[in-house]
Amino acid sequence: MAIAVVVGAQWGDEGKGKITDFLAAQADVVARYQGGNNAGHTVVVNGTSYKLHLIPSGILYPNTQCVIGNGVVVDPTVLCSEMEYLNERGISTETLAVSGSAHVIMPYHRVIDELEEAERIEKIGTTGRGIGPAYADKFSRCGIRMAELADEASLRAALARTLPLKNRLLQRLYGHPGFTVDAILEQLVPLLPTIRPLLTDTSLLIDKARRQGKKILCEGAQGTLLDIDHGTYPFVTSSSPTAGGAAPGLGFGPNRIDQVVGVVKAYTTRVGEGPFPTELHGSLGDEIRERGHEYGTTTGRARRCGWFDAVMTRYSVRINGLTGIALALLDVLDAFDTLKICTGYMYRGQPLKAFPTDLEVLRDCEPIYIEVNGWQQNITGVRRWDDLPVAAQEYLQIVADAIECPVQLVSVGPGRDQTITVKPVFPT
Ligand code: IMP
Repeated sequence: MAIAVVVGAQWGDEGKGKITDFLAAQADVVARYQGGNNAGHTVVVNGTSYKLHLIPSGILYPNTQCVIGNGVVVDPTVLCSEMEYLNERGISTETLAVSGSAHVIMPYHRVIDELEEAERIEKIGTTGRGIGPAYADKFSRCGIRMAELADEASLRAALARTLPLKNRLLQRLYGHPGFTVDAILEQLVPLLPTIRPLLTDTSLLIDKARRQGKKILCEGAQGTLLDIDHGTYPFVTSSSPTAGGAAPGLGFGPNRIDQVVGVVKAYTTRVGEGPFPTELHGSLGDEIRERGHEYGTTTGRARRCGWFDAVMTRYSVRINGLTGIALALLDVLDAFDTLKICTGYMYRGQPLKAFPTDLEVLRDCEPIYIEVNGWQQNITGVRRWDDLPVAAQEYLQIVADAIECPVQLVSVGPGRDQTITVKPVFPT
């Protein structure tokens, strides 16, 4: 078993950080393949909570090789401040490698992100981190890559090439004063000595590890429904968090992927705008939010909460080719006497079995629920499937049947040890 991909199977924030951290203990390499510091994971180790946005959570293990792949967009200031944050807490970043082909988020990307969002008639609710504009430049072929941060001369040349274009946009369209090469250099040049040693051909690194039979965990940020192609466009991020994105985002062939684990919450949440069929307005939604601490790691925004949506997750199983799910935050449901699972949608009086790709259809979908008994007991101390209350086992089985994908892992709390392995991802 060489390469496993972990993806968020809903709208992001599924608890992927915790699951990735759990699996990283068994992996030799942990690699991120898309997104940037729009992501956020909180990992709790021995009672200490670590908040990371860009660096893979595998960094918390001293011997795990961590990779930021070519498909990621890197804000150099965030990269260096996260390294400092970790180093200050006694965590080494010696094992971090960053692809020279990854694109750089420049200060003007953050400004354009905010200006564009302000101009939009229908807001996307972006994180304002410059993600979309950085990917737009990548695809418009006017981006700057991490390799160009190797020294001041190449960074100066890259800025001289791209800034005139960006300044024309900022000044003529938005009335912004724009940026000078010197002002950006002043911000970034002090970071170059930290960045230079990280630059690596990460595709080659992963290939070598694979040939040596090492276990490689590829980590997608965000979630399937935020995928630029398969998400609820335009309320999506600007990259491919779905499993297929791992191959181009890290530089290996898609046939190298052995397993795809989808992380799903025992319920559903969403930040930002866009349709959300099982959303709960009122006290039930509030209770889930409070019990699950459903506030964004990156922006602190309150997440919208709702019941588990099997129609959407079945779609995610199809789009990602999930071989199993890791079901997170099951303990959040401990308090409820009855629980609902959405198994279908009604659209204008007709039942829909498949998740609609048309946003306007999704907007008008009414969930069809089945109601099941809750277990109403604290499960945070459970470590084996057999010790779960029968009602919790039944809930998991109904979910697995409804999405047509087996449950591999169950998370019952934020700690590393609060995980039930039903079927190991990296068998020994
Ligand atoms: P962007 O990625 O900052 O461009 O934001 C686009 C959309 O993706 C917005 O709705 C964000 O709230 C959402 N988003 C981006 N990253 C995450 C994440 O890590 N978790 C949940 N939502 C996210």
